[in-house]
Amino acid sequence: MSWRNRNHPTFWAFLVHRLSGIALTLFLPFHFWTLGQAIAGEAALDGFLRWAEQPLVKASEVVLVVLLAAHLFGGLRLLALEFLPWRDGQKSLVALGGALSLVVGLAFLLNLA
Ligand code: HEM
Repeated sequence: MSWRNRNHPTFWAFLVHRLSGIALTLFLPFHFWTLGQAIAGEAALDGFLRWAEQPLVKASEVVLVVLLAAHLFGGLRLLALEFLPWRDGQKSLVALGGALSLVVGLAFLLNLA
């Protein structure tokens, strides 16, 4: 596949879908470990939650929420592609998914402030 074929919105959508899928998978064990802190006791969980107040951790949370939303909307487009009749305008659907992901990220960010 030449670079010319790759420089297309649906190729970038594929890349975002794969990278967000990998990022979510890497995040999941960490998330379970965090929940496990509750079993270790209230103090352990509170200690972790205080650590998670740091701006860099909050910023990573926003990125993760955007990646989850991008994976969700991108995944819905792929499932529609797979199971519904073909429809033109895939580029617009990619753009719509990207815009909705940013809206979700913004809503999360506003809720943090
Ligand atoms: C939120 C709802 C989700 C939807 C609708 C969704 C949808 C999809 C779809 C349709 C695929 C197949 C892509 C393809 O055919 O190329 C896929 C791949 C994948 N998903 Fe999800 N997914 C979701 C959540 C998640 C979560 C929570 C994780 C991780 C914890 C995850 C990890 C992955 C990974 C690692 C792949 C493989 C990526 C690749 O081969 O490029 N997904 N997802």
